[in-house]
Amino acid sequence: MVRRRDVPKARRMVGWFDPQVLAQSAWLVAVSNVFGRHSDSRLIEALATQRQGEFDYGPSSEDFWLDFVCDTGDGWDSTYAVAHHLAAPTLDVVHAGGEQETTRRGRVLVFGGDEVYPYPSRLEYESRTERPYRKAFAGYTDLPDIFAVPGNHDWYDSLVAFSRTFCRPERGFAGCKTHQTRSYFALRLPGDWWLIAVDLQLGSELDEPQARYFQDIAKLLTERSKLIICVPEPRWILEVAYPKHASYTEDAAIAFLENEVFGRRARVFLTGDRHFYKRHENAEGTQKITSGGGGAFLHPTHAPQTHQLRDGFVQRAVFPDEATSRRLAWRNWLFPFLNPYYMILPAFVYAQSAWLASEHLQPDDLTDIGTAFVSTVGAAIRYPLDGMWLLGIIAAFVFFTDTHVRWWRIIGGVSHALAQLCAAFVVGWCAYRFTTETLGMRYASPTQLLLSGAITFPLGGVVGGFMMGAYLFVSVHVFGRHSNEAFSSLRIADYKQWLRLRIDGDGALSIYCIGIDRVPRRWRRTQRGGAPTYVSDDPKASPPRLLDFVRVR
Ligand SMILES: [Fe+2]
Repeated sequence: MVRRRDVPKARRMVGWFDPQVLAQSAWLVAVSNVFGRHSDSRLIEALATQRQGEFDYGPSSEDFWLDFVCDTGDGWDSTYAVAHHLAAPTLDVVHAGGEQETTRRGRVLVFGGDEVYPYPSRLEYESRTERPYRKAFAGYTDLPDIFAVPGNHDWYDSLVAFSRTFCRPERGFAGCKTHQTRSYFALRLPGDWWLIAVDLQLGSELDEPQARYFQDIAKLLTERSKLIICVPEPRWILEVAYPKHASYTEDAAIAFLENEVFGRRARVFLTGDRHFYKRHENAEGTQKITSGGGGAFLHPTHAPQTHQLRDGFVQRAVFPDEATSRRLAWRNWLFPFLNPYYMILPAFVYAQSAWLASEHLQPDDLTDIGTAFVSTVGAAIRYPLDGMWLLGIIAAFVFFTDTHVRWWRIIGGVSHALAQLCAAFVVGWCAYRFTTETLGMRYASPTQLLLSGAITFPLGGVVGGFMMGAYLFVSVHVFGRHSNEAFSSLRIADYKQWLRLRIDGDGALSIYCIGIDRVPRRWRRTQRGGAPTYVSDDPKASPPRLLDFVRVR
């Protein structure tokens, strides 16, 4: 039996609340938001590389298969579990009616965005994404062609590592061939279907070379051509979750593509970004599919609620179901244990707050907890450094609050900050009472201050961690907010899925959503065709199963 530690360079799920990851994420998001939008490397990329045409996979007299996976490249167990089943030449599924069907590995594998976490680099792409897929494909022949469209996580280094990984055909990916030289592409598929993969950078418009590329592609379409459009994020969900957010109020790029470039509506939209499966459908049978289960931590499906979208789209399928999602949210009460490194942050904030307050408080100010509280508030008002410290903490919590309605953000952030500061006061007060009353130390003596700090620091870490967990639980459970933070903190590797598309001889498109409820935690080394690979050695792991099936004409 081979355990996780024996799997070479097996990566664990990203700890999104580890201070190092938090700091780096905040920095990269800020830098890419400030500079990324102004230094558009797609322009450089488009000008610097050779001309890219369409990629031709049609017509075909046989069934054509294509796999679509998003949000890969997190922990080994989840990423490899999907890659392992996706790489197998055939996979049997059972339909809702009991009918068994053999699906086939795609001739093409499309990575639909967020290929790596937490931020892109050559090393992270290699160890979190390419290595699992290389091991999964090891020993197989007739490997799929790989295409990839970048998500926001791929953009955090201005697409440098993404371009090197997916846009250099001479290099290949995980032993498979790559063809694209830009971050967007068009695939001509059998049955007059076209897969149009769009790069919207960090939520911006189409750049000019990309618009021209798709205008050239549009000239190749016939009147009967049908579109599958891959986009980096599900705006149809985000515009419901954040109705006041300017970025989501209109999808100008897609409207431009449909109305002005291709002159028709897409039959299917595919995306990831949110790490669950949801399929929405309108009366005409247009499908909007969010399929972000390729490896990254699970997002909740119950919050925000997306049963009805704009323009008559209704939710037809979801994985995992909302009851499961609601149940998993309770794990936030274990926040400090799931995110042990995070506790360093509240530990520092609580200890520093107590230290600053103690500088200006005399024993007369600390006769009882009520007097101490009033004195502490008075000190924060009188002394600029104390006041600035408190305002800084409040500002940080307001910034952290997940809403695009300004007054809600202020109310939520200030309430959370005040709750944390009150808890810091209580922890500091307990440390003071213990050192002075129980141990009889002289207040404000170096040893009393040191011991008090030594108590406040770990206690503050645990209490602050619990309060963050409680805040996230209430936010997602009651208000449908912080769905990202409330579940990234849980680092759930299970409930993974990907899409398998089949175009049959009639030109009908069938979409299979194949999922795994529980991914293996243990793997066994084995050989396939003389190449080393891994298979599950975890009896608790679930086999893949068909979660959803829809036919589009
Ligand atoms: Fe994602």
